[in-house]
Amino acid sequence: MTRTQITGGLVITAAEEMHADVLIDGGRVVAVAAPGTQSWTADRTIDASGKYVIPGGVDVHTHMELPFGGTFASDTFETGTRAAAWGGTTTIVDFAVQSVGHSLREGLDAWHAKADGQCAIDYGFHMIMSDVNESSLKEMDGLVAEGISSFKLFTAYPGVFFSDDGQILRAMQQAEHNGGLVMMHAENGLAIDVLVEQALARGERDPRYHGEVRKALLEAEATHRVIKLAQVAGAPVYVVHVSAQEAVAELARARGEGLPVFGETCPQYLFLSTDNLAEPDFEGAKYVCSTPLRPKEHQAALWRGLRTNDLQVVSTDHCPFCFTGQKDLGRGDFSKIPNGMPGVENRMDLLHQGVVEGRISRRRWIEIACATPARMFGLYGKKGTIAPGADADIVIYDPRAEQTLSAQTHHMNVDYSAYEGKRVMGRVETVLSRGELVITEREFTGRAGHGVYMPRGTCQYLD
Ligand code: URP
Ligand code: ZN
Ligand code: ZN
Ligand code: ZN
Repeated sequence: MTRTQITGGLVITAAEEMHADVLIDGGRVVAVAAPGTQSWTADRTIDASGKYVIPGGVDVHTHMELPFGGTFASDTFETGTRAAAWGGTTTIVDFAVQSVGHSLREGLDAWHAKADGQCAIDYGFHMIMSDVNESSLKEMDGLVAEGISSFKLFTAYPGVFFSDDGQILRAMQQAEHNGGLVMMHAENGLAIDVLVEQALARGERDPRYHGEVRKALLEAEATHRVIKLAQVAGAPVYVVHVSAQEAVAELARARGEGLPVFGETCPQYLFLSTDNLAEPDFEGAKYVCSTPLRPKEHQAALWRGLRTNDLQVVSTDHCPFCFTGQKDLGRGDFSKIPNGMPGVENRMDLLHQGVVEGRISRRRWIEIACATPARMFGLYGKKGTIAPGADADIVIYDPRAEQTLSAQTHHMNVDYSAYEGKRVMGRVETVLSRGELVITEREFTGRAGHGVYMPRGTCQYLD
């Protein structure tokens, strides 16, 4: 095993910033020390002078190869994890899916088969529960024990992923007892389906109507409801992909009451809006995801929530579909556009823009993108920080390099960028995963199969 030292950089964790050298041995960080205070020997030295040395990003919401709306998300575990590495993310937690009529185990086995031997970086799984019943509730306990410690349920997508309030309550009660964390997609899907039907009957067929029928009020209502259900169950709840300011307000109120209620948002909600959904010539389809993009005014509330810790995590909800051939399925009927956007490669850079623009501090950047996601989902200690004993998942980040985001240069397997032409300050230079160079000065030097499956512990954010 190569002993590597990273010298001269500014080491940033959620807790502190310090000019320090980092020594890596056996795939782990073994020492972090003020420059010149150690006499290490190393086989390899990476000079990080003038650069940031940050923990690899932890993206706890991706959907590689997700079957959706008659097609599959266009990134495989191979292409998607490679793109993640390019963007400075060294761990993903993807969603294994239970199909209706089948067990959790069958869904989990299928996702292991897709990912095994394919990934460039480490990965774990959450479990999507589409069929909450006596048998799947019992299965949850075993899954928590083996490292699948979080379960996503939906108040949206009736007939596909939807669970009713009774099913949600029962899953939360089970999680209360086995230590699992319930993640909620909170939108009132039954009400949305009524509005979809009415919009289509009025001839409203363009992508922008996706945003109009999936109302902020219906996100807020479902957020309120799942918080109350969690309170009744005595369980924590984590609300995924929060986009509406009214939903942030629900989280803030509950947290003000001291409830263990957590929220995640995504870069698309911080940087894009219904203006994008309204782009002509069906271009708006590129921005169709659920929860939907909101009017620009909501962005300030999301940034504020990230500062006040009413929102704790930024993930991507990476779920790419090509504009040509996949988003196309919904030409003439917005409700048939596959839901999801690409972004696994862009998260660290876009959040760094939040630092550049003075919206969050550097340490908060690392907290919401690395440390808290790891803590929330039982990976902390190994992932999310740079400290002795942690996996050497480290990014050398050049805060002064400028780049233009584009489908021409990105590595995601999708034919458009949601941020085409956007200029950003900051760029990933080099990425190590467990001490191995995955990106070396902007060259991919990793390989499919380097990434290993990470069984996870239970939520450490409550500790
Ligand atoms: O539009 C989205 N978010 N697609 C992925 C599935 C989900 O609800 O997270
Ligand atoms: Zn089956
Ligand atoms: Zn969702
Ligand atoms: Zn998702």
